[in-house]
Amino acid sequence: MTASPQQRPALTVLGIETSCDETAAAVVRRSAGGSGEILSNVVLSQIEDHAAFGGVVPEIAARAHVDALDGVIAAAMRDAGLDWAGLDGIAVTAGPGLIGGVLVGLMTARAVAAARGLPLLPLNHLEGHALTARLTDGAAFPYLLLLVSGGHTQLVAIEGVGQYRRLGTTIDDALGEAFDKAAKLLGLGYPGGPAVERAAAPGNPARFALPRPLKGTPNCDFSFSGLKTALRLQAEALAPLAEQDVADLCAGFQAAVTDVLTDRVRRAIRSMRADGVPPTALVAAGGVASNATIRRGLDRDSASEGLPFLVPPPSLCTDNAAMMAWAGAERMAAGLLPEPAVSARPRWPLDEASDPAVGAGRRGARA
Ligand code: KG4
Ligand code: ZN
Repeated sequence: MTASPQQRPALTVLGIETSCDETAAAVVRRSAGGSGEILSNVVLSQIEDHAAFGGVVPEIAARAHVDALDGVIAAAMRDAGLDWAGLDGIAVTAGPGLIGGVLVGLMTARAVAAARGLPLLPLNHLEGHALTARLTDGAAFPYLLLLVSGGHTQLVAIEGVGQYRRLGTTIDDALGEAFDKAAKLLGLGYPGGPAVERAAAPGNPARFALPRPLKGTPNCDFSFSGLKTALRLQAEALAPLAEQDVADLCAGFQAAVTDVLTDRVRRAIRSMRADGVPPTALVAAGGVASNATIRRGLDRDSASEGLPFLVPPPSLCTDNAAMMAWAGAERMAAGLLPEPAVSARPRWPLDEASDPAVGAGRRGARA
């Protein structure tokens, strides 16, 4: 550890993210006082390349990253109005994720860093999600993070830069994956989350009694595969499905998910308090955190626990490079530079001390 963040000058970092189906680059500045500013944020989504397959195809993703990354980086530098001398470092996702895509980003970042004489910061993608609320809302440590994306569903105590303690994780499907599978079995489009949310709008959440897996159990883990199966059985029993049936099934699914999430979050807040690290806020991140029903449930719940609910805007909840640039700046400010020779890792739990679990450090094809 070196000087405290407050004593350091502003840090300007280029971030690169290629671990799934977004090719992204961004420039972020962290002031000496710790506030953040996004100077540019370029995200090129490959959704259309993968839609026909109902999920992300790793080989297609890797090739698309190769084709797009140089242009995306150039656009991020141009939008920021900077030349290379204006940067203090390059942060890049080194995992977890689809290994082909991660390699494209890491090799490109390594080459640029070497050519420009800049420090290279290979980082865990999940650290980007974990620290985003400090960039957008100045969240103070410690806080509770609910990370809900296509590859992850975790509750993590964020106690400082590099200090992450996993409190719970899914023991089977990630929540975004469950949304995607639900959408597929109901004949809705890909990606499934937004499609389920739209279809649920005119639905009656109380029509079907769907299960609430693991609700009320003593730890903070999640399980979604039984809920997905229950939804499938209901849908099969009703087939052929009328539009109202689909709406009611989607609304019931969202209600069950929200009920489980709020129960698990409440338990995690109490567990942090019992451990003597009371959280200053509940923070949500990941693509599923853009779901309005889920956000409302979490907001209500954290208010009842006396905590602010912080959720970055949807464009910073889903995958982006601003979060990686920010995580790099936070690490530089704290004097916690990662080893530049780190190699690409398909699996990489944020809390390396916790037991391996299905949803703990895995991101991948979701078809
Ligand atoms: O964080 P993200 O963009 O990428 C990953 O790192 O996985 O999350 C993508 C996931 C997908 O499974 C997608 O269906 C889900 O987030 N998602 C949603 C919504 N928007 C995206 N799930 C529920 N409701 C939404 N509005
Ligand atoms: Zn992500």
